[in-house]
Amino acid sequence: MLELKNLSYRVRNDDGTELTILNNISLTIEDNQLVVFTGPNGGGKTTLAKTIMGLIQPTSGQILYNGRDITALGITERARLGISYGFQQPPRFKGLRVRDLLCLAAGDEKLPKNVCCAYLTQVGLCANDYLDREVDSSLSGGEVKRIEIATVLARKSSLMIYDEPEAGIDLWSFARLTETFGELHRRHESTMIIISHQERIISLADEIIVIAGGAIRHRGTKDAILPLILADTMGNCALGKECIIK
Ligand SMILES: Nc1ncnc2c1ncn2[C@@H]1O[C@H](COP(=O)(O)OP(=O)(O)O)[C@@H](O)[C@H]1O
Ligand SMILES: [Mg+2]
Repeated sequence: MLELKNLSYRVRNDDGTELTILNNISLTIEDNQLVVFTGPNGGGKTTLAKTIMGLIQPTSGQILYNGRDITALGITERARLGISYGFQQPPRFKGLRVRDLLCLAAGDEKLPKNVCCAYLTQVGLCANDYLDREVDSSLSGGEVKRIEIATVLARKSSLMIYDEPEAGIDLWSFARLTETFGELHRRHESTMIIISHQERIISLADEIIVIAGGAIRHRGTKDAILPLILADTMGNCALGKECIIK
């Protein structure tokens, strides 16, 4: 179980004024749930995900994972506890091949080719074309994104966080990826937090959490939240502002 207790994150602007990016967020996510964070750009979703992974230290508040206070732990220690994170904009690793990254993620120097291939297939990549490619600037943004998602899969974490997995990915690969998330969720062996704006991913969620202005604006099932999101895209309901779900 993941528990966030009164998490806040504030930074100082150049002029010395304080900017609140996360404002007193409290949230509990039970094991093996698929939860989608959504909401307008700049709402604080990535910042919240990074505080869970330990890439950002909250200014105040607590993070508990399986009852243990992990607020002061760094990324490596959290990774050891089974938390993994796929960046919104993944880094490239010049000199490392796709197969090396998968082995590193799995913690196995000799990950068999067929296992590597299976991870790549799950994200819609044809393994033969990619296994020996370097993860450098010769790959497109969507390719790097899918390779990174494959490494998160290879880590077999108990809590996986994916930041906008749809970004830069073509419709066909996105369909494959959505299937992969659905299959993972049906196995009921890991908790998934997916930051997404895509209806197909939102439809997989046990719970949808709308984050705007650094706070949780709404949370509920897809049946309660999807109509609000769809209405918002039609300009009838500003999800960023307070609105009441009946
Ligand atoms: N270190 C920082 N300094 C100043 N502003 C920041 C910093 N980190 C994030 N922000 C701002 O906080 C807001 C939330 O960002 P982010 O978490 O990336 O939003 P989202 O992922 O929902 O689009 C944005 O307005 C962003 O510019
Ligand atoms: Mg973001």
